[in-house]
Amino acid sequence: MPIVRNKKIEVLFSAEDIDRRITELAEEVALSELKNILVVSILKGSFVFAADLIRAFHRAGMAPEVEFISVSSYGAGTQAGELRLLRDVESEVEGRDIILIDDILESGNTLKFTRDLMLERGANRVAIIALLDKTIRRKAEIDADFVGFECPDKFVVGYGMDVGHAFRELPFVGVVTGDA
Ligand code: IMP
Ligand code: MG
Repeated sequence: MPIVRNKKIEVLFSAEDIDRRITELAEEVALSELKNILVVSILKGSFVFAADLIRAFHRAGMAPEVEFISVSSYGAGTQAGELRLLRDVESEVEGRDIILIDDILESGNTLKFTRDLMLERGANRVAIIALLDKTIRRKAEIDADFVGFECPDKFVVGYGMDVGHAFRELPFVGVVTGDA
């Protein structure tokens, strides 16, 4: 079991698992109706996944444009599902086919907020691609069009995902199981 920052980490999805699955996802996207794609990576958690995914898109024959957006839930005490925009995309989204990329689809609030924003601005289509899907935690009515893996109901870290700003650098997705 890997030990990082004096913590034992149980690997759920290895770098090889992720790599293989990303190639398959890119091939699925290449066969979809999406054309002339504008990728929107939701910061911060999805940046590693997005970086690998766009290169797999290239290998699958696509030439996406890339944007970043950052949204955050309001502090404790406010209603779940209330989100605010911290950093907006710079490109015009009207008439575009958009793929929103996120690390985990959990309650669905983040992706619902972002998808609705893109649709309000006149996007032609908005597809969602999530590396991990925690279906059991869903609150909003939303599903991903493309999913890497079903995720067990555990707090995961690595491959862009953090706990208290730590572990984003890990090349795999895992669960912190305790002190080493
Ligand atoms: P939701 O779908 O709006 O509930 O939010 C999902 C977001 O919460 C993801 O984009 C992650 O940034 C974060 N998140 C949810 N579950 C985890 C986890 O297990 N580890 C790390 N971040 C998580
Ligand atoms: Mg996130």
